[in-house]
Amino acid sequence: MTLRLFDLSGRVAVITGISRGIGRALAHGFAEAGAIVAGCARSYEAAERTAEQIRAKGGEALGVLADVTRPEDCQALIDAAVRRYGRLDIAVLNAGINIKKPSIDFAAGEFDTVIAGNLRAYFLAAQAAARQFMRQGRGGAIVMNSSNASLAAFDELGPYCAAKAGIDGLVRALAAEWGPHGIRVNAFNPGYTTHSMTDKGQDYLKTGAAEIIGRTPLRRMAEVSEMAGPAIFLASDAASFVTGVTLAVDGGWCAA
Ligand SMILES: NC(=O)c1ccc[n+]([C@@H]2O[C@H](COP(=O)([O-])OP(=O)(O)OC[C@H]3O[C@@H](n4cnc5c(N)ncnc54)[C@H](OP(=O)(O)O)[C@@H]3O)[C@@H](O)[C@H]2O)c1
Repeated sequence: MTLRLFDLSGRVAVITGISRGIGRALAHGFAEAGAIVAGCARSYEAAERTAEQIRAKGGEALGVLADVTRPEDCQALIDAAVRRYGRLDIAVLNAGINIKKPSIDFAAGEFDTVIAGNLRAYFLAAQAAARQFMRQGRGGAIVMNSSNASLAAFDELGPYCAAKAGIDGLVRALAAEWGPHGIRVNAFNPGYTTHSMTDKGQDYLKTGAAEIIGRTPLRRMAEVSEMAGPAIFLASDAASFVTGVTLAVDGGWCAA
């Protein structure tokens, strides 16, 4: 009975950024939990590749071309899911970008790119999902993939830390504003995984591995697949009275 609370069978979940990394792992995880997945990337082929992998395993999934920094694309993503599957139950906002360099060297345009690719994109996608939830009148769950960079300083990630802290703020603000509509808004905050968003970051995972692992109470980095459980929890009925929270999934990094 209790386990059934985590079951997403028949729920329609939109997930942004499913072509690789954590988003792809989330798409597979949600499908394994029973959800129907409509996921996007900035290339239709890349999104469809993940959708096809899910269908090959017996799940149901749809790949959509959408750049989530654009409001019309966020709307088109939600519309594509509703047109195909008739409803929306869950929106997982995951697609993000990063530029790793010293803050002193950031151009204004690079700062804007990082804020738009994370904070603006999450706001626009949340807004499009919430409009659909309000139209349906049955509530819904929004789960944001934030980062422990919202909670602590990370080297050469100044604007990214700011964008992710903004996402945590958005979680609380939107949870308060949309709670009366039955819309829950939460985030999980990954720490270091074995997958990095940038080549420079991937190099650091090798050279800095001992330091990262030594500083992490669980003494390892996460696999991207380990993000699915916390995200599924927040999206599921198991979290029916949970809203406005940010859940660290960082092996204890921020606690230590
Ligand atoms: N990797 C980590 O260890 C880590 C740690 C903490 C938090 N996070 C967070 O986890 C999320 C995913 O990280 P990741 O490492 O998996 O990143 P990634 O490997 O760079 O993948 C990003 C995904 O988002 C898509 N994407 C990026 N910008 C997009 C846009 N404007 N519109 C639509 N799709 C877009 C990319 O697809 P296309 O390029 O094909 O469009 C790709 O599927 C991010 O929000 C990141 O901040 C990651």
